[in-house]
Amino acid sequence: MDAMLDKVVTVLARPNMALVKYWGKRRLGEDCGDPKLNLPLNSSFSITLDAGHELFTKTSIVFSERFERDTFYLDGKLQDMDNPELSERFLTIEKIRELAGVKTKALIVSVNYFPTASGLASSASGLAALVFAAAKALDVKTSQEKLSEIARIGSGSACRSMFGGFVVWERGRSPDGTDSVARQAFGEDYWRDLSVMVCMTSQKKKKISSRAGMKQTVATSELYRLRPEIAERRVIEIQRAVKDKDFDAMAEIIMADTMNMHATMLDTRPPIMYLNDISKDIIYAIEGLNEEKGRKACAYTFDAGPHACIICRKDDEKDVMNRLKGIDGVERCIKARIGAGPEILQESDSLIDVDTLLPKKHKEAR
Ligand code: DP6
Repeated sequence: MDAMLDKVVTVLARPNMALVKYWGKRRLGEDCGDPKLNLPLNSSFSITLDAGHELFTKTSIVFSERFERDTFYLDGKLQDMDNPELSERFLTIEKIRELAGVKTKALIVSVNYFPTASGLASSASGLAALVFAAAKALDVKTSQEKLSEIARIGSGSACRSMFGGFVVWERGRSPDGTDSVARQAFGEDYWRDLSVMVCMTSQKKKKISSRAGMKQTVATSELYRLRPEIAERRVIEIQRAVKDKDFDAMAEIIMADTMNMHATMLDTRPPIMYLNDISKDIIYAIEGLNEEKGRKACAYTFDAGPHACIICRKDDEKDVMNRLKGIDGVERCIKARIGAGPEILQESDSLIDVDTLLPKKHKEAR
């Protein structure tokens, strides 16, 4: 058993963008044993994003008897492990330790390569990197699906970053969450003709986290009652559209679904509004472009924030880009493509010194 201790593993994981959104968790009494398990009220569907030198998390981890407690550095800063939000997310590490049959403590050093103050979510890539790296460091032999189940406990959307390409997260029915897992529907090379742009709009700090926001929506929105069934149907429909490489059908589902989720946010008491005026200008611009072309040239989707993710065919990329450039307040568009799941990096990429088992001094990450 000791053989797997003191092994530094470094992993890169990418974020994902939901095309059919997850918004709402099962509550006690709704076939959910433990709210900490993060069980969703609907299935969702995503693409994993690869933007090259940005939009990813790098995490190094080592388990060693030398450590008395878990230590976690995020973006160069030592984190307070007593922080309840952090300890909830670290349940994932407990699960990996259980699978490995050890209680050994870990040093974790993680860096998010996301643009400064972008407000782009790094929790999915962060939790996926953490779980994948921990499992590899402890030599846990289990399926990627099982690892997605564990990543889900850290953050729902993280389970989808456990795979590359087009990913389905099945809501599952079991109160223990063992069937609420992600799986790859199509690989990252299945539809190479697609292009993705993440467009950042200027924003003030996010008013309410997705975690708090979705809780409030489930508790107060009447409209939300329709949502799980709609999303469930769309997860099936979008898989058909991707299988047939039917861009028009896929684009329609993506746009309808993001607006449906945002409608339930608006219907929340008090209302939650993540979109800003620039997001709305993007919506009108894309709808206008599609109208002019007489087909769906591109689709927009928005998570719990004002930034847009635009998906188009490579042939339409220039026209879409030009249209976006004309919008006041669009600060930057990052080009991405559909990417792979977590990857193990070489020792030279490690954020931990393999001899001293101390964090390496690294350049300011952000
Ligand atoms: C709008 O996965 O961040 O991005 O499970 O509470 O950690 P927790 O929430 P999180 O919510 C993501 C919500 C979303 C839609 C999606 O990614 O499907």
